[in-house]
Amino acid sequence: MSDQTALSFATRSAPADGVAVVFAGEGPKLTQAAQDLDKKSKGLLAKAAEITGFKGKKDQLVDLIAPQGLKFARVVLAGIDKTASFGQEDWLNLGGSVRGLLTGKEAPTAHVFLESADGKVTGADAASFALGALLRGYKFKKYKTKPKKKNDAAAAETNDRTLKKIVVHCDDPKAANQAFVSARAIFDGVTLARDLVNEPANVLGPTEFAARAKELTKVGVQVEVLGPKALQRLGMNALLAVGQGSEKPSHVVVMQWRGAGPKGGAPIALVGKGVTFDTGGISLKPAAGMEDMKGDMGGAACVVGLMQALAERKAKVNAVGIIGLVENMPSGRAQRPGDVVTAMSGQTIEVLNTDAEGRMVLADCLWYVQERFKPKAIVDLATLTGAVMVALGKEHAGLFSNNDELSAWLTEAGNVTGERLWRLPLGPKYDKMIDSKVADMKNTGGKWGGSISAAQFLQRFIKDGTPWAHLDIAGTAMSSVDSEINRSWGSGFGVRLLDRLIRDHYERH
Ligand code: BES
Ligand code: MN
Ligand code: ZN
Repeated sequence: MSDQTALSFATRSAPADGVAVVFAGEGPKLTQAAQDLDKKSKGLLAKAAEITGFKGKKDQLVDLIAPQGLKFARVVLAGIDKTASFGQEDWLNLGGSVRGLLTGKEAPTAHVFLESADGKVTGADAASFALGALLRGYKFKKYKTKPKKKNDAAAAETNDRTLKKIVVHCDDPKAANQAFVSARAIFDGVTLARDLVNEPANVLGPTEFAARAKELTKVGVQVEVLGPKALQRLGMNALLAVGQGSEKPSHVVVMQWRGAGPKGGAPIALVGKGVTFDTGGISLKPAAGMEDMKGDMGGAACVVGLMQALAERKAKVNAVGIIGLVENMPSGRAQRPGDVVTAMSGQTIEVLNTDAEGRMVLADCLWYVQERFKPKAIVDLATLTGAVMVALGKEHAGLFSNNDELSAWLTEAGNVTGERLWRLPLGPKYDKMIDSKVADMKNTGGKWGGSISAAQFLQRFIKDGTPWAHLDIAGTAMSSVDSEINRSWGSGFGVRLLDRLIRDHYERH
């Protein structure tokens, strides 16, 4: 559910109505707009700052209901310290925290006077601020039939029923508007990814997910949906084995965006795990927390959101997105522990645990994308293992790669966007963990290093010489910790990260 609040940029002018948000640097050193308001209110801001010990530090606030005689309803003075050292993530977070203050209670319009006390605010900074504000405004309200009670704190958080408009006053609104074109595309992509992850599995099965992906044709992405028959013909038996216990047919969706044209060469490939619900299959999961497994398609959601963002901002890149959509259910037709299946690559897999299903889905998707597209690099995303949360918590996604350069690029993109990655090892000793007595490999690697043996399994389906990275996003894509820019269960993790990677390293400029 996209934030319904309209956002626009303007040159600095006196606020006529609504809520005014102004800033101060360390000191406090009031920005120009803050000084103007202070004058108009006969020193009210400075006085309030002094009484409350406000020093203009980051996260410090003075929040005032404007007295009689002033045109606007509420004034917020927010500390921003020194913006000279601000990176993209700081502007994004500032936008998020300001959006969090705007409940719409006092007035339907908010004027934000985005200035720094020690430097310029560029158009790109203002666009990042705006993106952060929009992301924070996201709420999944589809299944709420009644409006929230007035004094509900959670409702006040981002009550976009009443906040209608945010005007960002800044030095260079023209440049901000320009930079905001791609920020808007990224916002739409993250919103789509969040919507897909938040959707329950009775509504969003493999067929419905594929239909949502198919809608990307509207923005110029070429979309093919492969149904069970096509998958059988291709020999995607590992993927099909996971879905065979479900009433819902499995699908693979291929999305192509050719923004760099024929001269742009081989595409970069993005591959996503799309298990629309993971019960564990015959190796059934415990009841507690199983509801979270509606989010086991977070990788696929990211790929769809990213493809949408790339198309919407007309990225000069050739990219192909592949998602494997299945439901993992126990039934009389489900695969059993001990079954042996032959993957599309011809390699055989002994299924020791039907709950290690994501890697089987990805194995066939990875092989297919290499056979058909010979991509210049592959990044896969999957809510693959609980073990990655044991290792890294919810602050970093696990990164595995056969390529130091790709790995460094991804890590860097993670640091810039705040979608952080931490590299974990691969190697022959770990690979041995998945050797099987009866088949080429087994689908689980024993007790320790579960995220690593899962990644080793995937690597067995990567051809020599293809740069590849696997992101284990089990801890970051769903059931997310609250942040300045996200209050949604499904975070949309990876869309901003991969957009950055592509922008910096795979796009023609
Ligand atoms: N989808 C789960 C991983 C997961 C767990 C994601 C919790 C998000 C939150 C995956 O399919 C799974 O079940 N993995 C098993 C692997 C094991 C059976 C080798 C796991 O992590 O326990
Ligand atoms: Mn599982
Ligand atoms: Zn799973």
